[in-house]
Amino acid sequence: MRTQVVIVGGGPSGLLLGQLLHRKGIETIILERKTREYVLGRIRAGILETGLVNMMREAGVAERMDKECFVHDGTCISYENEMFDINFQKLIGQNVVVYGQTEVTRDLYDARDAVGGQTIFEVEGVEIRDADTEAPYVTFTVDGSARRIDCDFVAGCDGFHGVSRKTIPDTVRKDYEKVFPFGWLGVLSETPPVHEELIYANSARGFALCSMRNENLSRYYVQCNVNDDIFEWTDEKFWDELKRRVPEAIAEKLVTGPSIEKSIAPLRSFVCEPMRWGRLFLCGDAAHIVPPTGAKGLNTAASDVHYLYEGLVHYYQDKDSHGIDTYSEKALARIWKAERFSWATTNMLHRFPDQSDFDLKMQRAEIESLHHNETAQKWFAQNYVGLPY
Ligand code: APR
Ligand code: PHB
Repeated sequence: MRTQVVIVGGGPSGLLLGQLLHRKGIETIILERKTREYVLGRIRAGILETGLVNMMREAGVAERMDKECFVHDGTCISYENEMFDINFQKLIGQNVVVYGQTEVTRDLYDARDAVGGQTIFEVEGVEIRDADTEAPYVTFTVDGSARRIDCDFVAGCDGFHGVSRKTIPDTVRKDYEKVFPFGWLGVLSETPPVHEELIYANSARGFALCSMRNENLSRYYVQCNVNDDIFEWTDEKFWDELKRRVPEAIAEKLVTGPSIEKSIAPLRSFVCEPMRWGRLFLCGDAAHIVPPTGAKGLNTAASDVHYLYEGLVHYYQDKDSHGIDTYSEKALARIWKAERFSWATTNMLHRFPDQSDFDLKMQRAEIESLHHNETAQKWFAQNYVGLPY
């Protein structure tokens, strides 16, 4: 087979890139290791920056999002019994969209079907060959038969555990990593959200987050030990712990119910440099991971897609390779700022095993300055809604 761009990975970044390129008449084939149902079964975050919302529009997949999403002008932070609102609208005239990543991925799959985009599911043994030549190709097997796709470029959108990053030789690649000494236990419940905005809670018992998907679907998280046994976290224990970490007024109005999904996720920061090697370009989790505290996972994947999409369009339409030649540099410049915001908010809102009394005082002082200092709130708002592309 032959195509212009092989996209390895049928997650949100691969699908969004595929849809945008299709609308510019650039052909793609997406290779996905799992089934569509499996990909859509993964529960992920749901805060969309303005940049991603605009790209959903440009890709022609914004209709359901516009109908079903929440638009939030701000977010709340609590510490012990105190709670304050950071109003993005007042501070910088912007807002964020609350719409589940699962829904984004579903809309992108439906859009790809609608345009007859080729997606090959359940592929195995994907190998990216000759990416450092003018004629890369990808080999894989599906239904037991060996296949090969010749192409101009390969977009590695296959997540943290994919093959793309590992295709870049160690001699060329440098990985930066920080693993946090805790995880997040997340619960999805068919209950009304406890508050009209998200609440990021710092408490003596650790971090908690109150988030949502729709009027009757809520998402909550508590900081936990990453090795905790999920079966020891009964729903009752979860709700009890959550109530102890949010202000009393919030705990009183919290509607609890059976969890329909419950999982523990580790927290890490990770960046791979460079994000390009010859004709191979990394996008999203294949190149970088953020702790979820800053809601930057999907949004940094989206900014990568923005830069690569622009670069490829200029390459094919104007025979101008400046965009693809500066892709890695441009994408990384924005990613490192998102990494810093995610690292800073994680440090400000979680309890660390080795935290001294002095450290706790520093954390408290940082939260109080965010509470009472407009400049600090503006910085938070600019980063939370998303820095310009
Ligand atoms: N061959 C083909 N497909 C693969 C391979 C492989 N070797 N390895 C992984 N994949 C697929 C996975 O099954 C997954 O569907 O690549 C896809 C990668 O999707 P994501 O992990 O969702 O990564 P990305 O599209 O970059 O989205 C980033 O996902 O994890 C969240 O917080 C993260 O929100 C961010 C978003
Ligand atoms: C979520 O809704 O799952 C969510 C929201 C904000 C975050 C992380 C997760 O920072």
